[in-house]
Amino acid sequence: MEMTLDIAVETSSTSRIAEVDFNNIQFGRVFSDHQFIVDFDGEHWINPRVVPYGKIAMSPAISAIHYGQSIFEGMKAFKDKEGNPQLFRPLDNWKRLNRSAQRMGMQEIPEEFFMEGLRALLTVDSDWIPTSAGSALYLRPCMFATDDFIGVRPSSTYTFVIFSCPVGAYYSQPLKVKAETHYIRAAEGGTGNAKCAGNYGSVMLPTRIAQEEGFNQVMWLDADKHEMIEETGTTNLFIRIDDTLITPSTSRGTILEGITRDSVLTLAKSWNWKIEIRDIGIHELFEAYRAGTLKEVFAAGTAATIAQIEVIHYEGEEIRLGGLATWEWSHLLKNTLEQIKIGQIADDFDWMTRI
Ligand SMILES: Cc1ncc(COP(=O)(O)O)c(C=O)c1O
Repeated sequence: MEMTLDIAVETSSTSRIAEVDFNNIQFGRVFSDHQFIVDFDGEHWINPRVVPYGKIAMSPAISAIHYGQSIFEGMKAFKDKEGNPQLFRPLDNWKRLNRSAQRMGMQEIPEEFFMEGLRALLTVDSDWIPTSAGSALYLRPCMFATDDFIGVRPSSTYTFVIFSCPVGAYYSQPLKVKAETHYIRAAEGGTGNAKCAGNYGSVMLPTRIAQEEGFNQVMWLDADKHEMIEETGTTNLFIRIDDTLITPSTSRGTILEGITRDSVLTLAKSWNWKIEIRDIGIHELFEAYRAGTLKEVFAAGTAATIAQIEVIHYEGEEIRLGGLATWEWSHLLKNTLEQIKIGQIADDFDWMTRI
């Protein structure tokens, strides 16, 4: 990657890295030493800079706070066998951020600010990329509206920030999920396929209720009939019935188009697995379970990578895959993805970007 932007770098005088227990990190609680920031002044992106990680001053009137013009991405950096930092499919995150920006009436970020911001941040914080199995440096690019004005209209100014957190494995146990029949995550024509803050705010309550009931996550069903399976928490869903891998179609615009989802589909295709991208109802899942053809259910996302789903609860009934599943396909996918990310096996699809 060539640098073309002039990014000012102010390094922190002391590093916090020595205080971090890399074998025991809670997801999203520990931040690396620096952050990248660039502002949109209504006409241009200005003042790209790397500064010590810390608070950002803002007006209480910004529309990000009041009206939710706020979007983000989640991606990971790894080190290859030689210790070189590398990113997994960063341009796909950039493209999705701009799709989210477009849906939310926000400014789009040019590729060079996104990519060179990542590069500048990782250059100063490369020691923060952990190398133990399953760990990574999670990067959180985000953009929010900053106009000092409470009228309801798209902001003309924005701030784009990237900060990062070293993370270990997200889920250590197979998941128990609750298919939600009262609350919804996204409706057709809404913002389900944008990674906007509001989508996450609106599911806090139903997720907390499910967690109080003993589940890890909510499995979202369609907003209209509460029948079609959509996604789970911050992951897309895969279902193996016999030897067919099924994932819900994103064509209604109610599901986030996951980069892990696309990677799973690409690998599955390359292995000649039978794939179906289509609507799949919760009743079909239960029928396959009763018929003994439901082999695996798993969640796929950047933070969780591949997480097996052991229990699915739906209106008092339960699928319990525990002893029945072989987890053969989910294991293979998880291991292959992990090995590509750390350069242990060939990157046949050009997913890795050296920085
Ligand atoms: C709602 C939702 N679905 C799915 C995903 C998985 O997407 P990805 O694989 O790009 O991380 C995420 C995470 O970004 C998410 O927040």
